[in-house]
Amino acid sequence: MTVTSSADGQLARWERPTTPGAFPEQSDELTHFMMVYKFGLAEIETKIKILAEELAHKGRGNPIEHVSPRLKTPASIATKARRMGCPLTYDDLRARIRDIAGIRIVCSFVSDVYTVADMLTKQPDVNLVVTKDYIDKPKTNGYRSLHLIVEIPVFLSDRVVAVPVEVQLRTVAMDFWASLEHKIYYKYDPDIPAALRDELAAAAEDAARLDKRMERLHHEIHGPRP
Ligand code: GTP
Ligand code: MG
Repeated sequence: MTVTSSADGQLARWERPTTPGAFPEQSDELTHFMMVYKFGLAEIETKIKILAEELAHKGRGNPIEHVSPRLKTPASIATKARRMGCPLTYDDLRARIRDIAGIRIVCSFVSDVYTVADMLTKQPDVNLVVTKDYIDKPKTNGYRSLHLIVEIPVFLSDRVVAVPVEVQLRTVAMDFWASLEHKIYYKYDPDIPAALRDELAAAAEDAARLDKRMERLHHEIHGPRP
């Protein structure tokens, strides 16, 4: 049995291609298309839960504050596809939209973000496809997080498919900033006043300083994580 990867264009023909425009109407095909992402997401969520519980048992506390998995809705897949100029066929959507399944992992400290990312991506069945490190290189608006696209094999009744999952790892402080920035941005979208943009970027710097301070305190009290 082979695992078909969507990274190299050798995408598994899960079903017949849809007629353009047919997506996102309800159909067995759509249900199956979405189901596969749900399975991939469940696999990654289980891996994260295992890491969290085992690390909590071994070390000194769970490095993961909370985890939120989400599946894009068919309507939001279609909206993104139109924005990208991606034809509305299942094959095109599979190949080009890599964040249909997504999971956000909020960690206590910046070092935990990298520890958890490393532990996940070193697992032999997890294929790391893309890394975007917005902690090392924050976006100009101040956004910080570590984004990964990983592929996980999902064993279906008659084949194995490699399902892409977007993994966003961040600290509580980064999450706090991103949640509020999202609300503020969408309120003003598309024209945020420049003063507000600058203040948001400054707030992101404040959050990053807080992260550094908390990490230093943690380190001083407990030493490095065993
Ligand atoms: P999308 O088409 O939105 O998926 O963006 P992308 O493919 O360019 O990927 P990127 O890694 O930049 O962002 C993916 C996701 O990260 C977004 O859908 C958001 O959840 C989050 N994100 C990225 N940039 C920002 C930001 O500036 N502010 C906030 N609040 N979230 C962001
Ligand atoms: Mg996205």
